[in-house]
Amino acid sequence: MSNIIISVAKGDGIGPEIMNAVLSIFEAATVPLEYDYVDMGKGVYDKGYSTGMTDGAKASIEATGILFKGPMETPKGGGVKSINVTARKTWNTHSNIRKFQTIKGVDTVFSKAGIPINLTIVRENIEDTYGGIEHYMTKDVAVSRRIISRPGSEQVIRSAFEVALKEGYSTVTCGHKANIMKLTDGMFLDTFYEIAKEYPQLKAEDVIVDALCMKLVYAPQQFECIVLTNLQGDIVSDLCAGLVGGLGFAPSANIGDHIKIFEAVHGTAPDIAGQNKANPTSLLLSGTLMLNNLGLEHYGTAISNALLATIDKGIHTGDFGEDRTNSAGTKEFAEAIIKELDLSKITDSNPEKYHKPSKLGKNKMMVSSDEIIETVGIDLFVESEQQADHIAQIVQSNLDADMELTTITNRGTQVWPEGSVYTDLVDTYVVRIEKNTTNEVKKKRFMEQAIRMYDHLNIGSIEMLITIDGVRKYSLAQGQKVNALS
Ligand code: NAI
Repeated sequence: MSNIIISVAKGDGIGPEIMNAVLSIFEAATVPLEYDYVDMGKGVYDKGYSTGMTDGAKASIEATGILFKGPMETPKGGGVKSINVTARKTWNTHSNIRKFQTIKGVDTVFSKAGIPINLTIVRENIEDTYGGIEHYMTKDVAVSRRIISRPGSEQVIRSAFEVALKEGYSTVTCGHKANIMKLTDGMFLDTFYEIAKEYPQLKAEDVIVDALCMKLVYAPQQFECIVLTNLQGDIVSDLCAGLVGGLGFAPSANIGDHIKIFEAVHGTAPDIAGQNKANPTSLLLSGTLMLNNLGLEHYGTAISNALLATIDKGIHTGDFGEDRTNSAGTKEFAEAIIKELDLSKITDSNPEKYHKPSKLGKNKMMVSSDEIIETVGIDLFVESEQQADHIAQIVQSNLDADMELTTITNRGTQVWPEGSVYTDLVDTYVVRIEKNTTNEVKKKRFMEQAIRMYDHLNIGSIEMLITIDGVRKYSLAQGQKVNALS
């Protein structure tokens, strides 16, 4: 069997120590891999590359399709982007997969109570507030755009069902906040149940994310595979790391259709760098995920069994466990794992399953449809220190005959035509103008209406209100009554 070539970036701080430890275990386990070492991280930023990776590194990763990386330092300030976020976005690794399992020898409240944990969080990795699209609307109001797309949701949800099949789980749970974010999380949830139909052998259920957190803390054993949008997934996955003993015991894979990134979830630990104290477990477990992904499951299983046997014998680095004084160094820990390796069960590997790198041929996420999209109104984001009645008067005296002012809101709460005396105001109102006719009103007319309003109001931003096949696709304000036409 010929070796598979992967790209390896050792990383910064403790990165080289833990990567060397992991690769020494791979070598002892006769894992059929070859490494193309690439330059990424601090040293590359220091040379003036704002992306934190050299052109050679990019070319290598695109040729091998696999990046195995240690933690990397992103310089603070200076306008450079995080290497981790850049890598995930550049290669559209849409699904972040993190597995959380009870490890014998790592004491937690649950392990002490004899409650086993075996769950996987699949987190959307590209969209949501991580687009980082933020603006100051006025001096006192900043907004963030939260983008959720149907094709993006499909990708990550399908990944979750595939993970569940691979892991032998019976249930996939969708965590969401669709009761509040009815359109964004609502789309994610609808998509979840659509995709679930493709997997009739698996049970699909959903839980509101706050209740999910509570249930995870008191009974994590009731969950197997949980899929979430990006920010909620970020928070819930760290919560789960806490359930199994911390970030050091949770492997992480960023899976795209073309490129896959396997990494430790912790940082560069500058306080212990170069001291042979770092725990390589997170990187090693991510490495075993990578081996499983490459069709080298026998090697992955042999290595994780050796790791578990080592920890079970009480051999561990000084960052966990009861005996921290007499703990092993990074190298000694790796040597102890090597001693536990049982290679007798490595009988075959299936080349058919090897990940083969490919490039994006066409934008398959861009799909045309016959749905009828109609613009029915416009939201004007207006800066003003006046009361809502005053703004309403200005708007109403400048409205076209086929349009009406339906609501004015402040921080999402309706303040006109009715409001609560307890609503405190900031300097940004949203003025909603909707058509009051069943006839079609051209989109351009709403823009023209906005421009006319601009002569009287300080408009910072606008948002079109649309329906798709007659269904309203914009949120109502808290307290707003539904317009007769919508
Ligand atoms: P950190 O995870 O590096 O350290 C937090 C604490 O955990 C420290 O006390 C450290 O000694 C300990 N620790 C972390 N990993 C350990 C290990 N394997 N073994 C033993 N102890 C370990 O987080 P921090 O201090 O917030 O970030 C340091 C640097 O790492 C920053 O430059 C940050 O940007 C970078 N970072 C990189 C990540 C990545 O490449 N995926 C992720 C998180 C942070």
